[in-house]
Amino acid sequence: MSDLNNIAIKILENGKGILAADESTGTMTKRLDSVNVPSTSENRLLFRETLFSSSSMTECIGGVILYDETIKQVSSNKNKIPELISKMGAAPGIKVDTGAKALAGSPDEKITEGLDGLRERLKEYYKLGAKFTKWRGVYNISKDYPSKLSIHSNAHALARYSALVQECGMVPIVEPEVLMDGEHSDKDCYNKTSEVIQKCFEELILHKVDLKGIILKPNMILPGNKSKDNISSEEIAKLTLKCLKNSVPSEVPGIAFLSGGQSEIEATENLNLINKYNNTNFILSFSYGRALQQSALKFWSKDINNIEGTQRVFNHRAKMNTLAAQGKWSRELEI
Ligand code: 13P
Repeated sequence: MSDLNNIAIKILENGKGILAADESTGTMTKRLDSVNVPSTSENRLLFRETLFSSSSMTECIGGVILYDETIKQVSSNKNKIPELISKMGAAPGIKVDTGAKALAGSPDEKITEGLDGLRERLKEYYKLGAKFTKWRGVYNISKDYPSKLSIHSNAHALARYSALVQECGMVPIVEPEVLMDGEHSDKDCYNKTSEVIQKCFEELILHKVDLKGIILKPNMILPGNKSKDNISSEEIAKLTLKCLKNSVPSEVPGIAFLSGGQSEIEATENLNLINKYNNTNFILSFSYGRALQQSALKFWSKDINNIEGTQRVFNHRAKMNTLAAQGKWSRELEI
């Protein structure tokens, strides 16, 4: 087994998943504004180190994706943040793209930037302790979108990023996110997501990326959030599995879903059913941002010094998702 394959499996084995705490300062400010906490670098660190020092980190979280600001911060008890995460038994990771901008030639769509100078930045993050990285391509669905141009150019960027990350000895998370926004049906989501993922693998293979040393981070197959379609969690799970089985090469060791705007319970319930019906050899787990942090953030905002209480809320959500990643969750376990 290669080193990269080992890292990928260790992050996701035994029901462990990834805490996506890599919100850019802009996004984190929106999250903190929504609960009326000032977005200072101290507050961003306090919330995050509260999560990173929770007991569930050892059992339930195999990796944490950080933002550039956080990977360079030091916790209140003088631990460098990547060291704190490693001590808790998880792997530190880092978002390395620099965000999605309007795509020239199709300005209603987005292209993710950050390839310039990436090799040098990766070396710096590796020295800071990062074991894996993330790059997110983003696609919106409508009658004409995602266009061939967006599918092609984002896949190309994801592949160039992945090749550089593996060259530097880290595992790339390949995240092509087909957004939930819109009126589209689950069939549209299925078709577009399949096309997007297949193109990504075509480019990854062209760029000689070792597929055993990546983690795929896709969306689940869902109808748009403004769609009139009603679809059960069972159907979501079965469509998601069918899409992955048909589009993801079998060498890929693990797939960790994004939550993408689903509620905490929806994201857990869907992951649980995906694992119950899993007819693939992939490890299927979570790499949630909002669906792991929402309740904890709300609780914390009422008293930002209530560390224990906040950790209790986070531990519960992490535990529920770890059970779901093994198909062992049930609604009665929710409090
Ligand atoms: P959500 O789970 O909130 O969608 O965030 C995951 C993520 O990392 C998006 O890039």
